[in-house]
Amino acid sequence: MDTFEELNVKGFIDEPIDPVLDLFDEIEKLKKEKNAVILAHYYQEPDIQDIADYIGDSLGLSQEAAKTDADIIVFAGVHFMAETAKILSPEKKVLLPDLKAGCSLSDSCPPHLFSKFKEKYPDHIVITYVNCSAELKALSDIVCTSSNAVQIVDSLPKDQKIIFGPDKNLGRYVAKKTERDLVLWNGACMVHEIFSLQRIVKLKERHPNAKFIAHPECEDAVLEMADYAGSTTGLLKYTMNSEAKEFIVATESGIIHQMEKASPDKIFIPAPPNNTCACNDCPHMKRNTLEKLYLCIKNGLPEVTVPMEVIKKAKIPIERMLEISARLVL
Ligand code: 13P
Ligand code: SF4
Repeated sequence: MDTFEELNVKGFIDEPIDPVLDLFDEIEKLKKEKNAVILAHYYQEPDIQDIADYIGDSLGLSQEAAKTDADIIVFAGVHFMAETAKILSPEKKVLLPDLKAGCSLSDSCPPHLFSKFKEKYPDHIVITYVNCSAELKALSDIVCTSSNAVQIVDSLPKDQKIIFGPDKNLGRYVAKKTERDLVLWNGACMVHEIFSLQRIVKLKERHPNAKFIAHPECEDAVLEMADYAGSTTGLLKYTMNSEAKEFIVATESGIIHQMEKASPDKIFIPAPPNNTCACNDCPHMKRNTLEKLYLCIKNGLPEVTVPMEVIKKAKIPIERMLEISARLVL
């Protein structure tokens, strides 16, 4: 097995796997043996979604991480999500199949720079999107996700001044919806910024009956065209409840697996990006594979840790979000 140093360089355990093993069976056995639960985000590869105990958006995953009675949480998602699980359940072991599964949006907001930015607005409350580091959460007053950001901002008095970070696109969307001025950090997600407006317009012309749905991390011009904008769970529910038979989907392509499972008679077309690549995959999310998941649960590594002083501070804004969300019908 890899040494600790090797693990830190590679990010995952790299040992040979017997090709005759049925990884689905093996993972099921290990889960029972170790009292482990697998939480997976919708952007994970289909095999991982199919073996997970819970699949969800960032809010659902945090709620699940807060209430699970498993001893080990295997987080099939990216680093900030596993950190959030660790902050909510510090007594549990939290594993991430590949420690290098990061997030361009989280990286776009280094805590030391955000701290200086925050100093310029001393009378503002800080609301941060959950897609950020534990250190950034520790500098925040309330955390939000894409499914509750509008309601969380709306829960504050109208004259309350607010800094919103790190995603400027979600921030603009929330500012519009709530009719407020928000001070925005200039961060963005590499996957959601890549959609080509021109190519979407052309695709819509070819599929006049298709509904165009988009995640609020997309740019304003893309969201303006959308028949519906919402979190991954919101998008999935919309496709299930809509009478439409075709959907153009502007978010990471992993969600289409659940959309197709829930509505096998409907057609889902990934929105085209502004390059020649036909995929909208998040390279960070897709670092996790079934093989890495198996090795991770088998060896109890790589483990995500967060310093206790950061946990104490970061837990407060996350729990505020969970409290507010528990009162909302989302
Ligand atoms: P949600 O699943 O909460 O909508 O988040 C999307 C995302 O970009 C996660 O990285
Ligand atoms: Fe981060 Fe974007 Fe990937 Fe989500 S899709 S993990 S926001 S880079």
